[in-house]
Amino acid sequence: MRDTVMITGGAGFIGSNFVRRWMAKESSRVVVLDDLTYAGIKQNLSEFNAAPRFRFVKGDINDEGLVARLFEVEQPKAILHFAAESHVDRSVASPGEFIRTNIHGTFNLLQCARTYVAAQGASGHEFRFLHVSTDEVYGSLGPDDAAFSEITPYTPNSPYSASKAASDHLVRAYHHTYGLPTLVTNCSNNYGPFQFPEKLIPLMILNALNGKPLPVYGDGLNVRDWLYVTDHCDAIIAVLAKGKIGETYNVGGNSEMSNIVVVKTVCALLDELAPMKDGREHASLISYVKDRPGHDRRYAIDAGKIRRELGWEPNETFTSGIRKTVEWYLGNPKWIELVRSGEYKQWVAQQYAGTHQA
Ligand code: NAD
Ligand code: TYD
Repeated sequence: MRDTVMITGGAGFIGSNFVRRWMAKESSRVVVLDDLTYAGIKQNLSEFNAAPRFRFVKGDINDEGLVARLFEVEQPKAILHFAAESHVDRSVASPGEFIRTNIHGTFNLLQCARTYVAAQGASGHEFRFLHVSTDEVYGSLGPDDAAFSEITPYTPNSPYSASKAASDHLVRAYHHTYGLPTLVTNCSNNYGPFQFPEKLIPLMILNALNGKPLPVYGDGLNVRDWLYVTDHCDAIIAVLAKGKIGETYNVGGNSEMSNIVVVKTVCALLDELAPMKDGREHASLISYVKDRPGHDRRYAIDAGKIRRELGWEPNETFTSGIRKTVEWYLGNPKWIELVRSGEYKQWVAQQYAGTHQA
């Protein structure tokens, strides 16, 4: 095995933040495997184009031949698996791709990893398969329920969370049955730079900047726990370095908030940093809309295990993280333009027409 980590979904929101964090803090070589779906933005990684210890491979995690070849050629000491279809609303509208990527794609990676580890002989136990997952697998909490812990039973409610739950179970089974050295993280809602503007916080920022309505589902009182993305990345680095094989670690920001409070916080920051020309408050754009079908009411994470066992705690509060996030979107109009225009899709089609490198 070489001092190389393979990162699936490295061109997405959390994956690209992770690559940046990894390149700054660690010395291993990085190989990103990403199929550049609508959520994968190659430019998120452009600062590493010329870095000798960085390689980008465009490809599908379902591609058995490609993944097997990558393991063979790169001989990674770990795979960090971020690639997924990640948006609940899209999973409600068209679940098929979630089944294909989140379940079958994870299965394919596990199979290829298993073959690779077997071929390593005695040193195979040094390999790590780290699966990045979500707190949504645990279902929905009532207002007074205890936060999700690692032993909370799985009760996923959306096609997205069901597909992630299935992938978690497969990872668990590959450890239990075949001894694959696995680690699983289940994290709460992330926010920060490079998040695709289909998710709550960036959508609200961009709509507000354009004077468009801010669509709040239902009564706006659904609760999520929010974690700044680099804190999630640091948690994953800690789990990879010190996590116990076969274990799950919950990761959270200790920052539960209703959606309406989140949206009003974003509005207040924009009033300060980018006031509306007509003097109105951004909150005047808030518009309550029809609820999401099956909308989970509340998520909350007990992150006691990772704190006690690995010494991880978030560095950012919601107050510091949301300010950084709003400032980032204000400072990066070109990125916003890129992800919003159809131009990006055309670029991918031209740039990668007929290519599959490994
Ligand atoms: P994202 O949608 O921003 O990025 C997903 C990435 O995966 C994209 O770069 C996309 O091109 C790539 N991808 C999708 N299908 C692929 C395929 N078949 N083959 C190769 N690449 C493919 O997602 P994100 O928000 O960065 O989430 C990353 C991971 O973290 C996911 O597994 C998600 O379930 C998990 N997670 C996300 C959150 C959150 O709040 N965003 C919270 C907890 C866990
Ligand atoms: P989202 O960012 O899609 O993450 P998740 O569904 O994985 O938690 O949504 C966060 C919360 O915000 C969720 O309760 C749904 C709500 N929401 C809205 O009210 N309006 C919106 O336009 C979006 C995208 C989400």
